[in-house]
Amino acid sequence: MSYFRKNIDNMEGYVPGEQPKGGNVVKLNTNENPYPPSPAVIEALQKEINGDLRLYPDPIAGSAKNEIGKLFNISPNSVIVGNGSDDVLTMIIRSFVGPGDKVVIPYPTYSLYETLAELQDGEICNIDFNDDFSLSDNIVVKDARVTFLSNPNSPSGTMIPPEKVLDIAKKIEGVLVVDEAYADFAETNCVGLIDKCPNVIVLRTLSKSYSLAGLRLGIGMAQEELINGMTKVKDSYNVDRLGIVGLVAALKDQDHMQDNAEKIKKTRVFLSESLTNWGFHVHPSQSNFIFAKCPGNVNANELFSELKNRQILVRYFNKPKTDDCLRITIGTDDEIKTLLTNIADILKIS
Ligand SMILES: Cc1ncc(COP(=O)(O)O)c(C=O)c1O
Repeated sequence: MSYFRKNIDNMEGYVPGEQPKGGNVVKLNTNENPYPPSPAVIEALQKEINGDLRLYPDPIAGSAKNEIGKLFNISPNSVIVGNGSDDVLTMIIRSFVGPGDKVVIPYPTYSLYETLAELQDGEICNIDFNDDFSLSDNIVVKDARVTFLSNPNSPSGTMIPPEKVLDIAKKIEGVLVVDEAYADFAETNCVGLIDKCPNVIVLRTLSKSYSLAGLRLGIGMAQEELINGMTKVKDSYNVDRLGIVGLVAALKDQDHMQDNAEKIKKTRVFLSESLTNWGFHVHPSQSNFIFAKCPGNVNANELFSELKNRQILVRYFNKPKTDDCLRITIGTDDEIKTLLTNIADILKIS
């Protein structure tokens, strides 16, 4: 006999990308930023390490909400802060989905959405992306309580234009979650939809463009009614004292974030062009990673394993529609050159 709920027993649980302990690894597998965070963040964190750590943090992270409001030109009341955007995703699923409720998830995408829906015992409706990663109108599912859209999408790196997202938001009945974890590497975004659509929640994270995956900071933005409801659901002190000051300092230093994003976008072009010349199909990326379909004579799983043997970690998803591709995080120019030298060596490209 199991002590667990049936749906928990039946689910696999989310499997995060590998986080190697030490060693000389070229780590291109979990879309972290290869450059360090702003020095202003380090300074703010160091200052915050004092006797006040005995006190709980501000439960609603008010100073962080103010800074986010300023950056995106929205009211702080339209903002909720999370322990990573995964925490905001958890608030969303707990707020809107009960047993048997429909949750729409495009395929393939960030697999945590499915795990969260399973936790709630929701009914998962997977809608396949078209081959070019555009979305079919099937994404509009009757009675769906939540529809997830990673935009830009992971693992494809591709993006659905805001006009199309607006169209979907108007057609669906429930909440549309636009997860913009990678938006700072993209040409456009959907923050403007918040004003127009009472059912849209836009998510951001500081894990990627702000180089703060280790601090765990995520942002949810929506009209006040949704934010107020989600505030009831969140853990009381979900963002700690260091997180709050780190977020404020990071958002204040836009130049640092933008400079790094520009470097990453340049390296993205270099990597995409190099692989394309070797016969890979690289989907047009608006993210800090690319999704490359291997040439016909190359087994993606074997290439992934051989790179791993050489201490180069990329991501391979052994599932339909992704099992002939590798997802590669954009590292420094040196890291990407090392990757390319090794791919050329493994595939005997001269
Ligand atoms: C699409 C997407 N959303 C959310 C996250 C999680 O971000 P965070 O580190 O803020 O929890 C990731 C992480 O890889 C992601 O790819």
